[in-house]
Amino acid sequence: MCYAIPGKVVKIEDSVVTVDYFGERRKAKNDFLKLNLGEYVLAQGGFIIQRISQPEAETTLEAWKELFFSLKNTDLKLSQRANTLHQRANYIRHKTLGNACCVHAIIEFSNYCRNDCLYCGIRKGNCSLTRYRMSCEEIINLASWAAKDLNFKALVLQSGEDTWFDDEKLVSVVERIMDEATCLLILSIGERQLETYRKLYAAGARGALLRFETSNAGLYEKFRPGHILQSRIQLIKELRQIGYLIMTGFLIGLPGQSQEDILSDIKLTSQLGTDLFSFGPFIPHPDTPLAKASLPCLEEVLNTIANCRILNPEAKILVTTALDTLDKENGLKFGLLAGGNSLMINITPERYQRLYEIYPDRAGTGQQVRKKIEETVNLLHSLGRAPIDLGF
Ligand code: 5AD
Repeated sequence: MCYAIPGKVVKIEDSVVTVDYFGERRKAKNDFLKLNLGEYVLAQGGFIIQRISQPEAETTLEAWKELFFSLKNTDLKLSQRANTLHQRANYIRHKTLGNACCVHAIIEFSNYCRNDCLYCGIRKGNCSLTRYRMSCEEIINLASWAAKDLNFKALVLQSGEDTWFDDEKLVSVVERIMDEATCLLILSIGERQLETYRKLYAAGARGALLRFETSNAGLYEKFRPGHILQSRIQLIKELRQIGYLIMTGFLIGLPGQSQEDILSDIKLTSQLGTDLFSFGPFIPHPDTPLAKASLPCLEEVLNTIANCRILNPEAKILVTTALDTLDKENGLKFGLLAGGNSLMINITPERYQRLYEIYPDRAGTGQQVRKKIEETVNLLHSLGRAPIDLGF
């Protein structure tokens, strides 16, 4: 299965390259390769990540051609109604962005965390959790397997705020993954020094996933003791200045959060120039101070996706595992039909994934990776979505 389709380079202006996909043209940034007009490339998240030989590109394009247009047709049929809020959002998604749905892989490499966020199951105060750290070799091998054998073009490396992974270790992991298999590497490692992020950008990482969690400063400070909202936001802005693609967002359903707060959350996500919106339901964890809080309802989460899409027609909006967990039957499908257009597949080995328990009973835990990919692709196809990322 291919998570990016080859496009032909039709224009080069310094580091900005125009790529043609079956007549659709998109721009992508070229930081990693020396390219000529007429060459075939794979792009992800707006970055060129790989050159593809002409015969290989032509074979892939031939295999895709029929499917590409038949999927577009299915999507067209499913997006024509605009009666309900969700349908309107889905219509806008279809009109603005077509049927591409990016599918990223996520590797959770350590559940050690120096923070004590009241909502999070891997908070340092949770003494009943068994802690783990993957070795650098394990992370590199897993990432390389994901990129080479599973064909993922975008990988998220996620952990709690674990300073055992110092700059030297993180830089070497990023450099070695990029050496083995160039891909769009996204870091989700929390609030680290700006200098650390600079070094990691130089090493080849291009995405930063860091939610601001809530735009309500009072709630933020209550639920993230010892932290202030302003410094989180400042860091996100600085990461953007470095050149990182920004993936950020918030939790829906925190105790005390109002509808107005959620609207402000959507607005703040847009104002930050977010490339991928990442927000999902808060799911109480039994070993945290918020154990007794109630779950948000599915409708509230779907409405947030829909409102977000209506306010941000061009956004990439992630349908999260937390939504999948909230409704294991239909969460992903409903999210995709309410305006979502991006998914993540967790490829962390099961023995670790069970322990990355930010909230309990996470959807997909224990399921074989290849099976998960197959199910995701089937779901996307049934909705007329192509599991590819044509970028911007
Ligand atoms: N429910 C849902 N999401 C959670 N996160 C942390 N704890 C929970 C929870 N109980 C999210 C936070 C964090 C991301 C990695 O996981 O938003 O940024």
